[in-house]
Amino acid sequence: MSKVLVSDTVDQAGIDILSQVATVDIKTGLKPEQLVEIIGEYDALMIRSGTRVTKEIIDAATQLKVIGRAGVGVDNVDVPAATRRGIVVVNSPEGNTIAAAEHALAMMLALSRHIPDANASVKRGAWDRNSFTGAEVYKKTLGIVGLGKIGSHVAAVAKTMGMKLLAYDPFISTERAEQIGCQLVELDLLFQQADYITLHIPKTPETTHLINAITLAKMKPTARIINCARGGIIEEKALAAAIKEGRIAGAALDVFESEPLGESDLRSLGKEVILTPHLGASTTEAQVNVAIDVAEQIRDVLLGLPARSAVNIPGLGPDVLEELKPYMQLAETLGNLVGQLAGGRVELLNVRMQGELATNKSQPLVVAALKGLLYQALRERVNYVNASIEAKERGIRVIETRDASVRDYAGSLHLEATGTLGTHSVTGALLGEREIHLTDVDGFPINVPPSKYMLFTLHRDMPGIIGKLGSLLGSFNVNIASMQVGRKIVRGDAVMALSIDDPLPDGILTEIIKVPGIRDAYTVTL
Ligand code: NAD
Ligand code: MLT
Repeated sequence: MSKVLVSDTVDQAGIDILSQVATVDIKTGLKPEQLVEIIGEYDALMIRSGTRVTKEIIDAATQLKVIGRAGVGVDNVDVPAATRRGIVVVNSPEGNTIAAAEHALAMMLALSRHIPDANASVKRGAWDRNSFTGAEVYKKTLGIVGLGKIGSHVAAVAKTMGMKLLAYDPFISTERAEQIGCQLVELDLLFQQADYITLHIPKTPETTHLINAITLAKMKPTARIINCARGGIIEEKALAAAIKEGRIAGAALDVFESEPLGESDLRSLGKEVILTPHLGASTTEAQVNVAIDVAEQIRDVLLGLPARSAVNIPGLGPDVLEELKPYMQLAETLGNLVGQLAGGRVELLNVRMQGELATNKSQPLVVAALKGLLYQALRERVNYVNASIEAKERGIRVIETRDASVRDYAGSLHLEATGTLGTHSVTGALLGEREIHLTDVDGFPINVPPSKYMLFTLHRDMPGIIGKLGSLLGSFNVNIASMQVGRKIVRGDAVMALSIDDPLPDGILTEIIKVPGIRDAYTVTL
């Protein structure tokens, strides 16, 4: 049975799902060195933001197949290191959207009305009605930086509170922004005009310290900033100085450059600053959602099924996956086959999507073809996660082409591998009930379903060849399951594809190419 380590507190609903397929150990608060010591026993790791999954931990995780982050941000996981090792990293991109959006809205209102400080003063025994006069958000301008899932929900609610909405997001269209009720503007304009600025962007090299001394100087003295996205988007020292000197009115922060927040100028500021300890996703509902979402994906990966929100498998969203799944199997089979025909070291793989397939998303098919191609070299070590990296490291160049005019089959895939021993090509399509068929080998048309053990010959199309080959295989006790010849012209060159019941015995290939008329022979195990 598989073993799963849960190293941060996650909702029981997730544990229950994992327990159906694995032994689950819950060990929270582990030091990095303790995690390094035990991770080798586990097939899966489930975390929230508390566990930092470093390269050192990944290197020690010899059995690990999947890391599940119960939440959105995977900045506490060394995703490139996991990818290199073929470990799937999954998250829950939507489970806590509402929780985070509501936290940002709550922060905006709490900051405007000084609720935390007013509450603390009453609890201290005071009744001070003069120190906490606030500001209304009605008819004020809210600048939303990042109009994704959380930003959009914030926009929808803020609209109903009568706010004017500006948004900056270079990756969404003006039409989409308008649908959400926002006017898409340049960042500088947003900074200059907004009364409230709320951040809903990922932390990337471009967004790190997006709010700094220079950008703060562009804002109104009455501006208030809310960050419930990621620490590090705001340069905290510059923010604290701007608030202290009255250059902006305040800030409400849920996330920090370093968490837990240590020594910080922000702590000494008064009611114009609200700080919460990364609580954006901390609602009962969100924690149930993310735990279920991620546990289901870990379960699926452990059962050999694809995960719906893998962050390191390119282009494999659930919708794409459903549509392309049979073609990915085709691509993988063809990759494996052409790799074995080419033998030696492959230097160039040409992937041509034909017919209907020419209009499809190609990246997953290329990845699947590479996975198949590298299978002989890497066996189970290659998967959809690391196939592209492994190919790149081996110097395999990939060219993708499309040809919608090829209409022999509804959609077909053509792979051509050029290596140190020459060039070979295969084409395949899905026929009938989406069954994989080889439709061409090295330019010779055939129509055979691939089987586990196959033999291909390149020979002269002349009487007696098939009989001689059959007798030779018989003398080695090899049973032929099916056989087909593909030729372009009568008595020209031809290809023979044979499905055989067992692997070919050693030495037989040398005997086969001694048969007069047979120029080459290749054995393949799929
Ligand atoms: P999302 O991917 O749906 O949206 C992010 C948006 O940011 C996208 O529309 C993208 O186009 C935009 N974007 C990317 N780079 C940008 C840039 N340089 N400038 C402007 N826009 C840019 O993500 P989401 O689910 O809405 O999450 C937003 C943020 O909130 C993330 O950082 C996430 O990690 C964080 N988050 C925090 C908490 C919390 O507990 N505080 C909870 C959930 C999510
Ligand atoms: C997330 O990325 O999902 C949030 O920051 C919440 C969390 O850390 O769990």
